[in-house]
Amino acid sequence: MKNLDIRPIAGALGAEIHGIDLSQPLDDMAFTALQRALHENLVIFFRDQVITPEQQLAFARHFGALETHRYAKGLASHPEVLPVIKEADDRAANFGGIWHSDVSFHEEPPMGQILYALQVPDAGGDTIFVNMYKAYDSLSDGLKQLLEGRRAIHTGERSYGPSDSQVTRRQDKFSRSMDVKIKNDAEVEVSHPVIRTHPETGRKSLYISAISIQRFENMSHEESKPLLDFLIAYAKRPEFTCRFRWDKNSVAFWDNRCTQHYALNDYHGHHREMHRVTIAGDRPV
Ligand code: SIN
Repeated sequence: MKNLDIRPIAGALGAEIHGIDLSQPLDDMAFTALQRALHENLVIFFRDQVITPEQQLAFARHFGALETHRYAKGLASHPEVLPVIKEADDRAANFGGIWHSDVSFHEEPPMGQILYALQVPDAGGDTIFVNMYKAYDSLSDGLKQLLEGRRAIHTGERSYGPSDSQVTRRQDKFSRSMDVKIKNDAEVEVSHPVIRTHPETGRKSLYISAISIQRFENMSHEESKPLLDFLIAYAKRPEFTCRFRWDKNSVAFWDNRCTQHYALNDYHGHHREMHRVTIAGDRPV
């Protein structure tokens, strides 16, 4: 393998990687280099990749076991490949169009995601990522102490639950081209530490997923709200973020344990279609 060309796209996180063809099997050297690039940059991007669903899955499997989505249906031919679609005339909000870390309401949320662009608008439809290590590191020592050992309750209620109070009509939530189920089990409460330690880098990050976090454990919604609102707002400060402009055949691979992301919904009248593959993770500690 020739050396990877790694070009950071922002001060906080994110790097484009050139000099690799993701349709080809990874050798040990390339795997190690990409894993290091992911740990250092939190989200890595590739351009001009022409890959089939099988090749996307084979690439993802180097990094761990794969998962299917509990609520959104994958391709009939490849259930682990989730089509993320917004049609030109969809009235729906876009999938992922709110700050979140993917399915943080699972006991063992994913380690990462690999998102491949099949069709994107000429302009718009960017994805913003935020570095949750930085969000943690820049808190005051006093607030870090207050949060140390504290846990929070996450649910999938606002995304996939029937009693969602924020967005009530299903057709406003998801594209008609995505097969997404609303289910009662999305309301099951799962507790995670508010500060988590990355299992591979050993670094601490703030673990709040704006769409899923409900309240601090052993505290009411009302009691939790002021501090949670502060943390959610603080964690999206522009200087903690990077913004990726997609082209057809771009790939983003993010570490879901130490980032949040937000898919911009600013391209009404244009079709956007991606393939997403999820790599399993472990219980946050
Ligand atoms: C997601 O949240 O997985 C979707 C991100 C995107 O479509 O940019």
